[in-house]
Amino acid sequence: MDVLLKRRSTRKFSDEKITTDELNRILQAGLLAPTSMNRKPCSFMVVENKETLNELANAKDHGAELLKGADKAVVVLADTMIADTWCEDSSIALTYMHLMATNLGIGSCWVQIHLRKKDGVYAEEVVRDILKVDSHYRIAGILALGHSDDIPEAHSLDDVDKSKIHFLV
Ligand SMILES: Cc1cc2nc3c(=O)[nH]c(=O)nc-3n(C[C@H](O)[C@H](O)[C@H](O)COP(=O)(O)O)c2cc1C
Repeated sequence: MDVLLKRRSTRKFSDEKITTDELNRILQAGLLAPTSMNRKPCSFMVVENKETLNELANAKDHGAELLKGADKAVVVLADTMIADTWCEDSSIALTYMHLMATNLGIGSCWVQIHLRKKDGVYAEEVVRDILKVDSHYRIAGILALGHSDDIPEAHSLDDVDKSKIHFLV
């Protein structure tokens, strides 16, 4: 519960580098995520190069700019030849990594790619082009990562909307 409350989308990062151990922990979390029929269609491409981070930051019309300041980004690539549940499997992996980053005190933010566009072109096509990835890989999103002095305040259980819960009688 502590990690769930602390998990916030962080969009401003400091210059402090994520260590190899920290990155490995985050990637292990992605690899441990459950997948439909245990097919494990996701690969994880770590981007550290500033030029590529800047290109990814421009891969959709808005909402990806934060990648410019990130220390690293993890692009989740799902192979549709392995599983048709690419979107679900990728989303769970992104969530696991987001939570592990929180657990390590590292800021992170999901950057949506699937369904988003850049000047009328699907952002997935733009990202595949930047990373030189085949079209049978689908990209639900990218996780931006970085240490931060600006992680938003933790959620509180007082703020959850309990009216969303319904008990069928
Ligand atoms: C599926 C999904 C897509 C998202 N896409 C973006 C995005 O493209 N850019 C961004 O800045 N934040 C994005 N976010 C972060 C949400 O805006 C954020 O989770 C939400 O506002 C709640 O804030 P919190 O994460 O701090 O609790 C995304 C989150 C999810 C779950």
